[in-house]
Amino acid sequence: MPKLCVNIDHVATLRQARGGVEPEPLWAAMLAEKAGAHGIIAHLREDRRHMQDEDMRILSKVVQGRFNMEMAAVEEMVEIAMELKPTVCTLVPERRQELTTEGGLEVKGNFEAVRNITQTLIAAGIEVSLFIDPEPEQLRAAHLTGAQTVEFHTGTYANAAAAGQAKHLTALQDSARLASKLGIKVAAGHGLTLRNLEPLLQIEEIEEYSIGHSIVARALFVGFETAVKEMLELINRPRISKAALAAPPSYRF
Ligand code: PXP
Repeated sequence: MPKLCVNIDHVATLRQARGGVEPEPLWAAMLAEKAGAHGIIAHLREDRRHMQDEDMRILSKVVQGRFNMEMAAVEEMVEIAMELKPTVCTLVPERRQELTTEGGLEVKGNFEAVRNITQTLIAAGIEVSLFIDPEPEQLRAAHLTGAQTVEFHTGTYANAAAAGQAKHLTALQDSARLASKLGIKVAAGHGLTLRNLEPLLQIEEIEEYSIGHSIVARALFVGFETAVKEMLELINRPRISKAALAAPPSYRF
């Protein structure tokens, strides 16, 4: 079954709205793990709009499962990562004006810089994941950096109207297949919700989902543990595998 890692940035966004101490991202991390999440993700942005350095320090000590530090590919963040030693660093593009991460990392066009940072982090024992659009050129460049994982940006799929989702799903499926052939682990995330996740679950190569906003939003009404459990239930729901679907009808039940 794929893993669920919960991005808790927006717990910090709510706290920063008042500049106080609540809600505390640490509680969200603990409740998410109690509910069965396999890991916690936090993005330390250069403008510190949600997570603060102290949050990252605490989370890096307390998270029991995979702690994934999302970060821009810049020296300042590399230094912090080298000190905190998260399980994973996910390299993402970052623009100050954006509301959220708006696209995948341009790996091909910044190859040397991304490869150097990737290799520095790997040498420190940190797994590296590159957040990219599901495009073969970016994927092949990501592979050449030595990164162990790619996280496919699902935002375009998630934001497309229902009628337009099929072509994005195909691009994700094709890229996931290629990643698997290249020996890279596949994760996926951005904009995923209880409504749009199900079709993606048919892509067997996706080993991990990174979901934040929709879980934090739903947690306001049902509580954090329940919101995480609902997502896990959907991910773990038994599915007819593609192999079973391809089998002659007499083997189906
Ligand atoms: N993956 C990456 C690389 C992201 O930047 C984000 C958003 O911070 C997510 C996953 C989670 O996206 P969402 O909050 O829309 O679930």
